[in-house]
Amino acid sequence: MNAPVMQGLALDTPSYVKNARLIAWVADMVALCKPERVHWCDGSGGEYDRLCRQLVDAGTFKKLSEAKRPGSYLAWSDPGDVARVEDRTFICSQNKEDAGPTNNWMAPAEMRATLQPLFDGCMRGRTMYVVPFSMGPLGSPIAHIGIELSDSAYVAVNMKIMTRMGRAVYDVLGTDGAFVPCVHTVGAPLEAGQQDVRWPCNKTKYIVHYPESREIWSYGSGYGGNALLGKKCFALRIASNMGRDEGWLAEHMLILGVTSPDGDKHHVAAAFPSACGKTNFAMMVPPAGFDGWKVTTIGDDIAWIKPAADGRLYAINPEAGYFGVAPGTNAQTKPTCMASLDHDVIFTNVALTDDGDVWWEGMGEPPAHAIDWQGNDWTPEIARQTGAKAAHPNARFTVAATNNPALDEAWDDPRGVPIDAFIFGGRRSTTVPLVTEARDWVEGVYMAATMGSETTAAAAGQQGVVRRDPFAMLPFMGYNLSDYFRHWLDLGRKLQASGATLPKIYTTNWFRKGEDGKFVWPGYGENMRVLKWIIDRVDGQADGAEHVFGVSPRYGDLNWTGLDFSSAQFDSVTSLDKDAWLAELKLHEELFGRLAHGLPQELPQTKAAIEERLAA
Ligand code: GTP
Ligand code: SPV
Ligand code: MN
Repeated sequence: MNAPVMQGLALDTPSYVKNARLIAWVADMVALCKPERVHWCDGSGGEYDRLCRQLVDAGTFKKLSEAKRPGSYLAWSDPGDVARVEDRTFICSQNKEDAGPTNNWMAPAEMRATLQPLFDGCMRGRTMYVVPFSMGPLGSPIAHIGIELSDSAYVAVNMKIMTRMGRAVYDVLGTDGAFVPCVHTVGAPLEAGQQDVRWPCNKTKYIVHYPESREIWSYGSGYGGNALLGKKCFALRIASNMGRDEGWLAEHMLILGVTSPDGDKHHVAAAFPSACGKTNFAMMVPPAGFDGWKVTTIGDDIAWIKPAADGRLYAINPEAGYFGVAPGTNAQTKPTCMASLDHDVIFTNVALTDDGDVWWEGMGEPPAHAIDWQGNDWTPEIARQTGAKAAHPNARFTVAATNNPALDEAWDDPRGVPIDAFIFGGRRSTTVPLVTEARDWVEGVYMAATMGSETTAAAAGQQGVVRRDPFAMLPFMGYNLSDYFRHWLDLGRKLQASGATLPKIYTTNWFRKGEDGKFVWPGYGENMRVLKWIIDRVDGQADGAEHVFGVSPRYGDLNWTGLDFSSAQFDSVTSLDKDAWLAELKLHEELFGRLAHGLPQELPQTKAAIEERLAA
């Protein structure tokens, strides 16, 4: 151990940490945050177990029944800290225009001055965990390293599951390798002798990104994307900046492999907004009528996509685990996902059953009694009377990718997998049809850029309102959306010029509702019927009908074996209502008005062409 001493506190830097910039930065952050001790995480199983035991002792974790749910824990958060906080998320570029009109912005100097007093002494009485992690396979040319300093043991154990975390990262980092510095505090220092609470956090929250210096500072929350900084903050907001500068894409996309009975394999990347079905689609079990078909998971939330020497786009999943939505997960509609949760899971904000297991809405038969996510007695009768939810709608599980029985054999391949099709899908109860193919790259970029979706519990704030969510990236864009559209258009043009076959682009909507207010499309595994049509289109083996927005299947173009779905039902999820589309195009117009500064002209031109066809 070499041990520089900061204000009386030994840094105890392990001898295998040799990066001078890292050591100096940790020393600076220790001086600022003033933790009681520093713990350099080595990422070992022993360390994980010790930290979990410590979280149990502190009351943050409950150990679940070893018989029912081996190796698993349950955490209940503060009721004010249950989701991402978009209105407290900032992109602090030098120029406001570089953050764009959809991001909260503050000048870097002003933000630093704001954060300085908040971070000064913020870790008093706590341990600072030094969490080294790699986004992407260790040492892969596509991967990047981050170091998160956090005063939350909950964050440290979640990062162990969600990323490649541990000592080996320092070998890749070496003496002068680059890393993204990520500082996280729950913002709840403990004064001498003060008793800690179950879920420390602060009412004041700041999720801050400095895109030019590639830094992340997070204050006041311990939940999900606010605190596990490798995920949205690094792998999307900072990485989107890296991608723009270096010619690649960081996207809010699942990646899956789909293999036909004769062994033909395709890869699809799909962007659906938060809590709109990515995890489900990535772990889809093909339904009756699809014997011999197999869907395998490469990733469920984030894709880093780069052009390779063969002119194709290759995608890797930078993560190593899933932080997935628990409510709605059950053995009938999501069997693979459910099977992934058998053991070694961290659950957050689900209910605790009397036999030491977990339960959430949509899991199946409710227990006669449970303790809900806020620690109150819960019974089906109480729920009927008060509407009390057993689990918070944004309750989540954290689980290693290796728990997934449908994990793709190439999920960890540093080269990634070649993408054949992109899908963009919103949650829309009306207007948008089940599936549409773009006739070319520009039309596809238009579809993605103008996508609307109803908001969900994944973010704090109002739910169920339609908002534009371009590329499902609205909350995750690290720079100006107009520049990002340009980046997609440029990439397509460049690849096309090199003679490459570009992936085809589709939009989907699983969420059209009937007059009874219920989803008409059965969804889940039945989405395979749409996925197969997409694959067949890529191979030039399926028909469709061209309309004003693109190409969609007719009833007879899909395989209906094993599903009772009438052509009238099909019409109600695919019909195009002219008035609804005129209103929809007004919303596209509004979006383009907001993004006018730097908006690529191809987009309003595509809109004009649609309007012309619609009027004809
Ligand atoms: P994030 O992790 O927030 O990015 O979400 P996600 O896109 O991975 O969402 P996930 O797959 O966890 O699904 C969220 C919700 O959508 C759950 O309640 C699911 O049951 C529901 N859902 C998923 N797929 C379908 C579908 O095909 N049809 C319907 N109606 N609901 C679905
Ligand atoms: C999302 O909200 O899209 C998530 C969950 O994947 S979180 O990591 O909290 O952002
Ligand atoms: Mn997500």
